[in-house]
Amino acid sequence: MAPRKLAAGNWKMNGDLASLAEIDALIAAHPAPSCEVLVCPPAVLLHPMKERAGGARVALGGQDCHADLAGAHTGDISAVQLKDAGASHVILGHSERRADHGETDAVVAAKAAAAHAAGLIAIICVGETETQRDADQTLAVIASQLDGSIPEGATAANTVIAYEPVWAIGTGRTPTLDQIAEVHALMRERLGGRIGDAAQVRLLYGGSVKPGNAAQIFALSDVDGALVGGASLKAADFGAIIAALQ
Ligand code: G3P
Repeated sequence: MAPRKLAAGNWKMNGDLASLAEIDALIAAHPAPSCEVLVCPPAVLLHPMKERAGGARVALGGQDCHADLAGAHTGDISAVQLKDAGASHVILGHSERRADHGETDAVVAAKAAAAHAAGLIAIICVGETETQRDADQTLAVIASQLDGSIPEGATAANTVIAYEPVWAIGTGRTPTLDQIAEVHALMRERLGGRIGDAAQVRLLYGGSVKPGNAAQIFALSDVDGALVGGASLKAADFGAIIAALQ
């Protein structure tokens, strides 16, 4: 059986309390989606968003967590705290964190292990830069990031993988459908050596997913949903992407 589809929104460092109206609108438009819907707002919005979403079928996630579950780490947030605030998922190893905060594969794996320990589903991100794609290194880069970023104990139940080409994020550019399919097939195969139930691991595509291109990307085999940035900020756009996934 194919894994259940997942539409995940990454608000990044955008949004405020007034933006919670978008969640109201999303829930009103999609009260009972057949796919899973996840929104990952800035951490300060998790708790108010949880209260706002109530029992609605919108899961919430963090955008990062520390590798320790508690302690003297000023400014950081633990996986336990994300869970306490209402999160069920956490995005880890996003290319913006790898670039801005020097996160290595080993750091990402340690954070994912912490997420699992706290009972969160880790969405582990991988993706090549444009230079790497131009140099024909894409498959090698993805394989190496996957090998290094997935912790022991990962399963289809506690881990999601997101393929986000760095050059496609926020640029309006996307790989060709063949290029996306090629990477997702590689990821499925590679996970087979690491995870017992690899066929059930959700593989998301991320990078300039919009209402206009979502359906053709979702039609690809081994694409089980999307990690959406800019288009997840507006209920109308994210709703259209959710509709394309159902
Ligand atoms: O995590 C999602 C993201 O990096 C993609 O962003 O704005 O290109 O959809 P965007």
